[in-house]
Amino acid sequence: MTVKNHKYKGWFITFEGPEGSGKSTQSQRLCDYLKKAGHDVIMTFEPGGTPIANQIRSIILSRENVKMAPCCEMFLYAASRAQHVSEVIIPHIEKGGIVVCDRFTDSSLAYQAYAREIGYETVSQVQKYATYGVGPDLTIMLDIPTEIGLDRTFKKRNPNKIEKSADRMELENIEFHRKVRDGYLKLASMEPERIKVLNAEEAPDEIYKKIIEIVESKLSC
Ligand code: TYD
Repeated sequence: MTVKNHKYKGWFITFEGPEGSGKSTQSQRLCDYLKKAGHDVIMTFEPGGTPIANQIRSIILSRENVKMAPCCEMFLYAASRAQHVSEVIIPHIEKGGIVVCDRFTDSSLAYQAYAREIGYETVSQVQKYATYGVGPDLTIMLDIPTEIGLDRTFKKRNPNKIEKSADRMELENIEFHRKVRDGYLKLASMEPERIKVLNAEEAPDEIYKKIIEIVESKLSC
């Protein structure tokens, strides 16, 4: 029997992974699949997902804000999340629907707790308030070696204008992004029941097939 990470009757599924791991494509495919299967599903993302959270997103990711202190960054992600959880996520799982979300608390743990070195305990505590106690029932983590992920991220855009298209987080050096990936792998080893790690270097159709198997087995519990 599955123990849910919230008190609501719906399901909350998140996608996580370092830059360039293909989360957005796979989460959208899962969403389309679930809709076709007749579920009441919404696709959303963080930071953002509501008008207020989207405004916070632009502050967080703006290249003008390179001076942002780590603690300010952590609270802004948490502020965006609090709005998103109360305005979008809770209302949908409360009525029995499925929410598929591209990034959630594990991003704050990988990026702010591990890579920014704020620490696991501090960032976890903040998440308790920001999420109103709602956690994902299942997390698909797409793992990719750092260099390959960053390469994919930049090539997908305009290869001649790499700097111009990178946001504040993507501009961080490779060491930062390595710590993000290590952080994610630590989180996955701490919670193997919830976090399922897939190799993002495999063919997209192979990854998709595995995601469907994992999700189907979760929903049938
Ligand atoms: P976004 O363009 O949504 O990235 P992606 O396509 O990689 O999901 O940018 C979000 C950035 O913010 C990304 O670099 C990850 C980072 N992030 C955090 O550092 N902490 C968080 O809690 C979240 C949700 C994202």
